[in-house]
Amino acid sequence: MHLQNKNILLGVTGGIAAYKAVELLRFFKKTGANVNVIMTGSALKFVGKTTFEVLSENPVLSDLFSDTKSSVKHIDLAARADAAVIAPATANTIAKLANGIADDALSTTLLAVTCPVMICPSMNTYMYQNIRVQENIDILEKDGFFILDPDSGVLACKTTGAGRLPEPWFIFDRVEAMLTKKDLRNKKILISAGPTLEAIDPVRFVSNHSSGKMGYAIAGAAEKRGGCVTLVSGPVGLKTPAGVERIDVETCEEMASQMLARLESADIIIKVAAVADYKPVNPKTHKIKKKDSTKDFSILMTENTDILKLIGKKKTKDQFLVGFAAETDDLEKNALLKMKKKNLDIIAANLVGTSDSGFKADTNKVKLFFKDGSFFDIPLMDKSKVADTLMDQIIKKRAE
Ligand code: PMT
Repeated sequence: MHLQNKNILLGVTGGIAAYKAVELLRFFKKTGANVNVIMTGSALKFVGKTTFEVLSENPVLSDLFSDTKSSVKHIDLAARADAAVIAPATANTIAKLANGIADDALSTTLLAVTCPVMICPSMNTYMYQNIRVQENIDILEKDGFFILDPDSGVLACKTTGAGRLPEPWFIFDRVEAMLTKKDLRNKKILISAGPTLEAIDPVRFVSNHSSGKMGYAIAGAAEKRGGCVTLVSGPVGLKTPAGVERIDVETCEEMASQMLARLESADIIIKVAAVADYKPVNPKTHKIKKKDSTKDFSILMTENTDILKLIGKKKTKDQFLVGFAAETDDLEKNALLKMKKKNLDIIAANLVGTSDSGFKADTNKVKLFFKDGSFFDIPLMDKSKVADTLMDQIIKKRAE
């Protein structure tokens, strides 16, 4: 679910983490959402209203009676909201929401919303662990509110423990997940991403330019749809998508053994990783020294396991297998050959070697070829949107 054109109600209450709500607001705005901010009186003591007004391009509601000419402004906002998120949510506001108290703009508006609501508790560890606070959180959870557990660490009050507001990108990601239709609920999805590294000696290796962005975007998209996602990843510098189990590997053989160990229980397998086709024969245990007498240097390479081909041989009729083809030329011809050779249900063909698609880029342009001979073009777009479109097509083709 992308939040473009969605109406988001952002409730900010009076905690030191209120400053993080500013960045959260920017994430929503960047994605094209319309955001209305409601602040409690205590929140105003931490961050100025003007900051939220300028960044949201909307007036901030903080007082039901003096902020607006319309006395039913809170009802308008509640009726229009596609999602509400309270970040940070103090013990006081949590108690009000759990007990139906409506004595300020935020608690009054929240009583009138019918959209999904996410509560992000943030407070001192002992306050958070307090039995009344925990009871109130339980009430909200039972009532269908989404509770985002706080992070642990050193808090502003110098206590160490649970109570820190999660990072804004994470809250944003979970709001997206909250609004996403769970059309892969309980499905087991096995994904590989990133490059493999094949050692030449202890300091050198053979690899490629895969950043993992495409595979990680697919893992994130599948998790948001309710899938149980395992991501077998080559070495990349990316954060693990929320809710995804990540297994780090380095070589093709390690990737093969981790994928095969999980193959039997997988419903959908998507191989996005850029696996080295060849690896050096007998990698040296000591660093190879430079010889002044030798200008040329060659490394004898041997074939790696073709993981996808092996999975294609082993897969059952209920399993759905997707491969990627990274090509610099003859995209269609090469992709179709790979689809047949590796017994795939879909091959996602993309051009590499250009700045806006394939390796490293934030965007990609992909042509999906299906086993039945049909195809689907995904035009140049952000990799997260490519991932969502691919998941739509996988769900559609599985159902057929
Ligand atoms: O990671 P990014 O920077 O976001 O870039 C994304 C990407 C370009 C890596 C991705 O979109 C992509 O195209 N992945 C496949 C890369 C690749 O290895 O393509 P291939 O055409 O060489 O291999 C075809 C398929 O066989 C792939 O699914 C690959 O995972 C699989 N394979 C290949 C060799 C091998 N030994 N074992 C395999 O399983």
